[in-house]
Amino acid sequence: MVENRRQRLIAVSNRVPPKASFENQGKGEAAAGGLVTAVRAAMEQSGGLWFGWSGRSTRRRVSAGHTITDFGQIQLATMDLSDDEVSLFYLGYANRTLWPLLHSFPTRVVIRRDTYRAYRRINRRFAETLYPLLQPNDLIWVQDFHLFHLGYELRQLGWQGRLGFFLHVPVPSADVFSILPWAQNTLEALLQYDLVGLHTDRYLRNLVDSLDVELGGEFHVEDGGNYYTYDGHTAQLGVFPIGIDPDAFNPRAHTDTPSLADELMLADMPDRKLILGVDRLDYTKGIPHRLRIFERMLERHPNLGSEVLYVQISSPSRTRVPEYIHEKEQVERLVGQINGRFSQTGWVPIRYLYRSYAQSELANFYHDTDVCLVTPLRDGMNLVAKEFVAAQGEKSPGVLVLSRFTGAAEAMRDAVIVNPYDIEGTAEATYRALRMPVAERRRRNRSLTAVVKRDSSQNWSDSFCAALRRTSIR
Ligand code: UDP
Ligand code: G6P
Repeated sequence: MVENRRQRLIAVSNRVPPKASFENQGKGEAAAGGLVTAVRAAMEQSGGLWFGWSGRSTRRRVSAGHTITDFGQIQLATMDLSDDEVSLFYLGYANRTLWPLLHSFPTRVVIRRDTYRAYRRINRRFAETLYPLLQPNDLIWVQDFHLFHLGYELRQLGWQGRLGFFLHVPVPSADVFSILPWAQNTLEALLQYDLVGLHTDRYLRNLVDSLDVELGGEFHVEDGGNYYTYDGHTAQLGVFPIGIDPDAFNPRAHTDTPSLADELMLADMPDRKLILGVDRLDYTKGIPHRLRIFERMLERHPNLGSEVLYVQISSPSRTRVPEYIHEKEQVERLVGQINGRFSQTGWVPIRYLYRSYAQSELANFYHDTDVCLVTPLRDGMNLVAKEFVAAQGEKSPGVLVLSRFTGAAEAMRDAVIVNPYDIEGTAEATYRALRMPVAERRRRNRSLTAVVKRDSSQNWSDSFCAALRRTSIR
């Protein structure tokens, strides 16, 4: 057990990094999304205990039990789930109910009582397994929508210390949120945390709207802080834009890893403009829209010919969820159609890579890219946008094309901001990005770099933890 010299940080998330990634110091291992990237950077700074699901499941029922492993100043504590629990709690309620709801895809939301009950049971088990590991002075920081009710369950067990929560995904409008039959109960549970953090001002406004509609408590601003009072207690709400460790994406730090040209075995890369997309294969990322955007650009600008190559890295995600299986089929069909239509001798316009890469490799790929297409239909923040900016050199930086429906677009105003539903408009914006003069690229990149440095992962966790420490103890 880490000695409690100062307040120990306890991060709790459903997803934690695989143990092997600590053993290899992150080399050769792909991260499992933005949450793990940012929380890991924060934990490496401050040390502490990181508690979550092992990623394993077993056929038999699982009782409260955990495994703890020390990796330097980070202790990783994990618990298993049973196959049924994974299917109801993770694949079901988390990924087929909350995920589409929070990303404003109401027609994809699946409402089932059995998955909600499993979600509540697993939140209780997280709490029961974590509780004996806690010391009174600990600072508990719960991450994301898988664990909305964890704070409530810890309070039921008697935890009186500080409890923070950060939501890594968007907050939809109150009209969309109200589709959830358990909206009221979920928001009541959320208010059990002392501090609730969100990425953007818009998400904060949406949350306050839902709280007003569902609970009818009182919102007030005091000394610059936002508070919501309901049923005799008050929770603080705050905006903490998540970020990256910019130094980790400096390609000079990764000279031993391959370039994109090596990876694609392209000897004649210097003559070619590269467009890159990097996403988990998720329908919120709008990959089919992006492929149509690229297709439209080729139609409108036949002069581009073999000058341009679009590389789409789609890392496998939630592969047993039906919507994800369908999305993969759709993406692969479109890649086939577009390549079939436009390929010429010696040129295949899209290189599609259905696999994950280590971030050290991504850093080099970003650096080699002329235009990075970050065009989700909805995204809480999007760290790929920030990683791309951090990996550019000053001499000839690439251009970031960024969807207005990402949290990142709120601060990254000097990206080329697009609406990915507008295929024609985004195709033209991408074409202009490919042709952008170097002086403008440099100017935009300088401004974006300042944002990425300011809103770093360290700043994100430092400011959240400082605000949580300032909340008054119950
Ligand atoms: N990522 C990775 N390998 C891959 C694809 C993605 O390590 O092959 C990482 C990427 O570097 C980023 C994270 O996964 O840190 C994706 O975060 P983002 O916020 O863009 O989206 P999310 O997956 O959380 O929705
Ligand atoms: C998003 C979510 C995270 C999640 C990640 C990867 O970033 O906000 O909570 O960990 O996607 O998804 P997965 O289902 O593999 O954990």
